[in-house]
Amino acid sequence: MYTIKTIEWKNDKVILLDQRLLPQEEAYITCDDYLSVAKAIEHMAVRGAPAIGVAAAMGVALGALGISAKTFGDFYKKLEAVCERLAKTRPTAVNLFWALERMKRVTLENKSLELLKLQERLKEEAIRIFHEDIEINRMIGKHGSALLKDGMRVLTHCNAGALATAGFGTALGVIYAAQEEGKRIHVYADETRPWLQGARLTTWELQKHGVETTLICDNMAASLMAKKEIDCVIVGADRIAANGDVVNKIGTYSVAVLAKHHNIPFYVAAPTSTMDPNIKTGADIPIEERDAREVTHIRDQQIAPTHIHVINPAFDCTPHELITAIITEKGLSK
Ligand code: MRU
Repeated sequence: MYTIKTIEWKNDKVILLDQRLLPQEEAYITCDDYLSVAKAIEHMAVRGAPAIGVAAAMGVALGALGISAKTFGDFYKKLEAVCERLAKTRPTAVNLFWALERMKRVTLENKSLELLKLQERLKEEAIRIFHEDIEINRMIGKHGSALLKDGMRVLTHCNAGALATAGFGTALGVIYAAQEEGKRIHVYADETRPWLQGARLTTWELQKHGVETTLICDNMAASLMAKKEIDCVIVGADRIAANGDVVNKIGTYSVAVLAKHHNIPFYVAAPTSTMDPNIKTGADIPIEERDAREVTHIRDQQIAPTHIHVINPAFDCTPHELITAIITEKGLSK
């Protein structure tokens, strides 16, 4: 199977596939300190909830390597500042905060280690998070592929693939797992305005994996469903509230409403690290508002009048009742 290297820890540096340049250019950026990781997350060189979590953990490890301190107390204070900077990058995907908390917990658990050993331990933990993410995605894929039959046509929104994770993907991991089992699956990829994760990234990686793919504009999904050309929908998630509401890329909610109307199963594939038990309902999940330029421009091309009023929420909330099942590494849950 083709392997996409979204994130890599190499020689105490973090190498990221720059997703802003895809599909035209496959270029990598090298981060040698935590600030460049923070900027890469903010500017979406790396994106997708699990990938953001893994990058943040590696950012903490880089930050730790750069700390000089005589006492654990001093080290921890400086590490907290690193985590605070990384926490400010993007507000919605909980995997970011989950990874930062895990790195802080491991630091506290190893407070008796001398500085060099503690730095080494944090590096090891970040790499462990990376490998675990791939394993978890493989398990999600296995559970999810049981829902797919040979010849099925699946609609997806945004990019929840290898590019959005340490590797393999969540929603697209389900497709890859089905493909590995010999099932032919046809994927309809929503373009996903305004950032075009579907058009630029999902199609790119599905093509690399040899999956039959059709790119559609977001507003074409209803008519395809009405013509009975979609068998099910599978999307990823950025944060799942305690009541099962799912926050994911803007436009996911409208796909879920359409699926309900047409009696089409709507699945969410996500690791349990995307679940936030501290948040009661989807309405309480912070939704990132991004630059208006993403709406008024496509790359450098202006497509709307200057000074037009714009809103650009990056995510929306799909109420739990519209979701057929959530596929995690532990199996299916309603
Ligand atoms: O703004 P992005 O590109 O980071 O948003 C990504 C999504 O909404 C994905 O669907 C989600 O993170 C799941 S990725 C496995």
